[in-house]
Amino acid sequence: MTSGGSFFITTPIYYPSDVPHIGHGYTTVAVDALARWHRQSGDDTWMLTGTDEHGQKMMRAAAANGVSPQEWVDKLVAEEWSPLLETLDVANDDFIRTTQERHETRAQKFWQSIYDRGYIYAGEYEALYCVGCEEFKPDAEIVEGTGAFEGLMVCAIHSKPLELLHEKNYFFKLSEFSDQLIELYRSQPDFVRPESAKNEVIAFVQQGLKDLSISRSAFDWGIPIPWDSSHVLYVWIDALLNYVTGVGYGSDEEDFQRRWPGYHVVGKDILRFHAVIWPAMLMAAGLDVPRGVFAHGWLLVGGEKMSKSKATGIAPTTLVDTFGSDAFRFYFLSAIAFGQDGSFSWEDMAARYHAELANGFGNLASRSIAMTAKYFDGSVPEPAEYTDADREIQKLVADAAANADAAIERFRIDQAISEVWTIVDALNGYITETEPWVLAKDDAQRDRLATVIYTCLEGLRALAVLLSPIMPESTAKLWSALGGAGEVAKQPVREAGAWGQLAPGTQTSKLAPLFPRIEED
Ligand code: ME8
Ligand code: MG
Repeated sequence: MTSGGSFFITTPIYYPSDVPHIGHGYTTVAVDALARWHRQSGDDTWMLTGTDEHGQKMMRAAAANGVSPQEWVDKLVAEEWSPLLETLDVANDDFIRTTQERHETRAQKFWQSIYDRGYIYAGEYEALYCVGCEEFKPDAEIVEGTGAFEGLMVCAIHSKPLELLHEKNYFFKLSEFSDQLIELYRSQPDFVRPESAKNEVIAFVQQGLKDLSISRSAFDWGIPIPWDSSHVLYVWIDALLNYVTGVGYGSDEEDFQRRWPGYHVVGKDILRFHAVIWPAMLMAAGLDVPRGVFAHGWLLVGGEKMSKSKATGIAPTTLVDTFGSDAFRFYFLSAIAFGQDGSFSWEDMAARYHAELANGFGNLASRSIAMTAKYFDGSVPEPAEYTDADREIQKLVADAAANADAAIERFRIDQAISEVWTIVDALNGYITETEPWVLAKDDAQRDRLATVIYTCLEGLRALAVLLSPIMPESTAKLWSALGGAGEVAKQPVREAGAWGQLAPGTQTSKLAPLFPRIEED
């Protein structure tokens, strides 16, 4: 793997109509872990996240709270959505809001260019709209309501009634792009991942695409259409543009060339917007399509997609206050196969916290550092002759590091973590087998003891570097206890597997438990 390439990655920009829940937290920490891994590998990395602030959903949320839409989004972003990034220890490079001037002027420039290229026409439209999705729904996603909504047509995702809208709109000739899109999915097999998402997208496009209504005139909370200011841009075609307006499109050509194209990580609920409409918009504008779109699964609560509109949202702070941000990141990124749905439960999170973090990784770190203090006055011992058992650990560390990097290339963060975890398990087994406390009783075994302790510490050195993108806080503590020079987050992750980087004679220091046991009432 070569370092230094451009790596631009985005989260969806979330609707600040309401407070964030752990579903938003999940996407955000996944993107942050991928960005950190690349940044730490020396790639020219940029992580963009932000908020999607226009549209009817926002207008209604503001009205329900008796304030203007701008006041509402300013408040929610300041009090909830920006703090979320600190809560989860996210190192984003930028935060874009679609109400920012930079976005509005660049978005207008983009649509003007599509208009000038002849891909826009005026027409009339009548269809069922879901304000939750901010989308005219295709027939396949319209179902009959139940309970209070019996007899009404509802959205399959939100279970709320659809609204029949009839308007004069401008349309984007999306239907002209079917063949080019199919060719894109064929020629770039990794454009949509995972495979299940790709198949769904191909099947959708093969049915034939309809032109897309891109403007609304019934309300004015949006970006005015440059050629007709009595309309505003449809919220989705405004929001998708953040991925280019956030990196200089239309005004900073150097920045744009440096970053674009990038990768998008999204939940599967918004896959079609990213894998069909967005690349078609870019093709129409004569710009590069994204490098790829990865759709992850849903966090389920009681078997259903967790959501604000169904009041099943769990606030990220609820978990972080108890388990800490590293455990939040570790749990969601390791326990769910990235790309598949996963059920969240407090019990599962607590069980994994204790088994994998407190007893597994945390205990390995504590006892290795404590034995170094006890047997070598805290100084990293010089290893003597390596045995087969030691060399097995060395090979395992090298393989785990290489396999983890390959897994990250496939966006499989969960597989990367399980590769790295083979080091945790192997070292804990190694300590059980080598019994350093027995060796310590015999002066003749002093060299062997030194080799065993060195092997543990050097393995921990590799673990700190490899886990830093996933758990930045605890790995920084471990790095400092190991006497590591500089910041762990700056250690080249693609070289983490090379044995022997920890210098004998380095002074270690005391380490408080990385993952204290949690007493629950
Ligand atoms: O769709 N499980 O914003 P949004 C996993 N503004 N991830 C979940 C989730 C769940 N239960 N619920 C939400 C929008 N997410 C648009 C996006 S992008 C140009 C515009 C995550 O606030 C997941 O990433 O509804 C999902 O795609 C996103 O939040 C939707 O956030
Ligand atoms: Mg949503």
